[in-house]
Amino acid sequence: MDRHLSLSQAARLIGVKRGDIQKKIQENKLRVMEGTVTLSDLKKAFPDAQYEDNTMLEKVEKFMRDAVHKMAQSEREGAQVDALSRRLIKMNLELADERSRANRMEELIDGLKHRLMAININADKERALNECKDWFHAEVRNLEIEKMITPIDQMEHQLKQFMLPHVRLLPSRHDFISDKSETLLESALRSGLAVDYGCNNGKCGKCKSKVLSGKVEQVSHQDYVFTESEKAQGYILTCSNRAITDITLETEEAVSADDIPLQSISAKVKKIQTINEHVIIMTIRPPRSQRLRFLAGQHIKLSLAKQLTPKEQPPITATYSIASCPCEPGSLEFHIPLCNDSPFGPTLLEKVKTSDSINLTGPYGSFVLDEDSPNSLIFVAWDTGFAPIKSLIEHAMSLENADTIHLYWMSRKVEDHYLENLCRSWNDALDNFTYTPIVLEPKTDVVADSLIKHLHNEHKHLHNFDLYIAAPGHLNHLLKPLLLANGVKSENMHFESTFHGDEIED
Ligand code: FES
Repeated sequence: MDRHLSLSQAARLIGVKRGDIQKKIQENKLRVMEGTVTLSDLKKAFPDAQYEDNTMLEKVEKFMRDAVHKMAQSEREGAQVDALSRRLIKMNLELADERSRANRMEELIDGLKHRLMAININADKERALNECKDWFHAEVRNLEIEKMITPIDQMEHQLKQFMLPHVRLLPSRHDFISDKSETLLESALRSGLAVDYGCNNGKCGKCKSKVLSGKVEQVSHQDYVFTESEKAQGYILTCSNRAITDITLETEEAVSADDIPLQSISAKVKKIQTINEHVIIMTIRPPRSQRLRFLAGQHIKLSLAKQLTPKEQPPITATYSIASCPCEPGSLEFHIPLCNDSPFGPTLLEKVKTSDSINLTGPYGSFVLDEDSPNSLIFVAWDTGFAPIKSLIEHAMSLENADTIHLYWMSRKVEDHYLENLCRSWNDALDNFTYTPIVLEPKTDVVADSLIKHLHNEHKHLHNFDLYIAAPGHLNHLLKPLLLANGVKSENMHFESTFHGDEIED
């Protein structure tokens, strides 16, 4: 049995760049079939590759040998394997349980912090304090109930997955690994692919796709009715089927912002986290049957419930970039600044609670990743311009296309890098990721000069990079000619200025 690997998987396996694999292919030293290479060909093309200490390659081969010979194992060997597997499953269940409780405790502390800050600015402090106490007791009761529920089914299912199916999409030739516990749609979205879908529950038919090879299995009910001809051609719904072997699928994918329809969704507030006195991070949960389709880097209009505004006033609305990746459609993140004239942030802090409704309209904007570009990536954020940049970075990571990624986060104060730990963890965990925080005077020319100096000193050939910059409009305006003069191609520059963060003096 010879395993087919995508170029990204092959590069990661033997610890070389994707470009090195492509070079071997161009030199006819490595065969490629529909964008994949086989493990044995890879070994021949890279005989001297320095595998990691305990060699990932050996692990994969052993993994495959075990899969093939598993059926032929003696009873004794089988019993040993079973015992070890059971132990491993038990330990993983305990770990998952502890993690889930730690997350809930973190949410509880954040919620409490948020409510204490709201009490401070509430005119009726006594009432606000009593409400806070009631909320706290209810949350603690919920925690007690949750303690009894462990994610056993979910974990057991995941741990039993040995060989995960590989899915190739046509005509885009994008590929992804499909976890058997997920539908094809869920796996595609988790991998950062903008596949077409609507209801996510087998009704609308928008996720209709044609299976060209391989086997799938229907895992949930579907109301959508296929014609006899569609059935004969192998059409399925990706929201109600999973892959059980490697498959090739013909399906619709959005390639630009124009391919995504405008949507209006009523969602629930999942979490409001007060990061510091200038920024709130809000997470909202769209209904499972109506996820928001968007591309990383886009923004949407948020409207608070009408009862939160004074009588005869329209609902409070504001436009914010989505800070999370489309690979997590069940949880949308927004970074809301408190330091500008919009009433949105203060109202959110003072009046909105977990599970309250919030309306979304969008997505808007074309500040999206050029997925076909072979270039390395440079991201630049000013203050809460980090929100769309975070979304783009997470999307780029899920695609695994870029050779290198460099993030510059600029602000007027150190504490304005409000997700510093996240950036540092990317920097520490990923070989190809560099994070440079920059703190400086908020004057357009000072900021532009500083950025150009950094780019000039740290990147020799800027014409090989795509730049994504989320900063106030006048800074973007000043940067464009400077970047052109430093070798960045006009078509490789992407600017965003739709955010309400700390301003820069003109
Ligand atoms: S998304 Fe509506 S049927 Fe699959």
